Amino acid sequence: MYHFIQKFHSGWAYLVLIMLLIAVINAIIGLTSKKEFTAKDRKIALFALIATHTQLLIGLILYFVSPLGLASFGQMADKALRLTSLEHPLINIIAIVLITIGWSKHKKLTTSESKFKTFSVFYGLGLVLILSRIPWSLWF
Ligand code: HEM
Repeated sequence: MYHFIQKFHSGWAYLVLIMLLIAVINAIIGLTSKKEFTAKDRKIALFALIATHTQLLIGLILYFVSPLGLASFGQMADKALRLTSLEHPLINIIAIVLITIGWSKHKKLTTSESKFKTFSVFYGLGLVLILSRIPWSLWF
């Protein structure tokens, strides 16, 4: 069970980062070139949202079955364990909240510029936060 979830979370992370990167770049291009916000732009942002939410669910399960998750919570002196048991989950949940707020906000906005700007800021911030707390040494 643990190994399956751990491999799934590890592999799905590629999809999350690629989808988020595409969504952020697409939003910045849309904003700077003053393009109209179309169904294609909405779909790109939606796929990134779904990929991120799926990773949240897998991550939550992993947190309870991994020896590096809840089981290591409290071992704050160990940098690697502090990352996987506290910093990575906490910062990623904050990032996913920001991405979700960005998605909800865009629905209420009416201009293409404001939609692209919202995705650039909220998805961009979310991506930076996620990248700041990846356990790179475990991943590669
Ligand atoms: C978009 C969000 C996330 C991304 C991109 C992500 C990515 C990753 C990556 C690349 C690893 C290293 C995997 C490996 O060992 O090969 C990892 C480990 C881990 N993640 Fe996440 N994660 C995310 C969210 C979360 C959340 C929300 C939680 C918990 C609530 C979580 C819990 C964990 C745990 C406990 C580990 C250590 C697992 C182990 O090796 O036993 N992750 N994550």
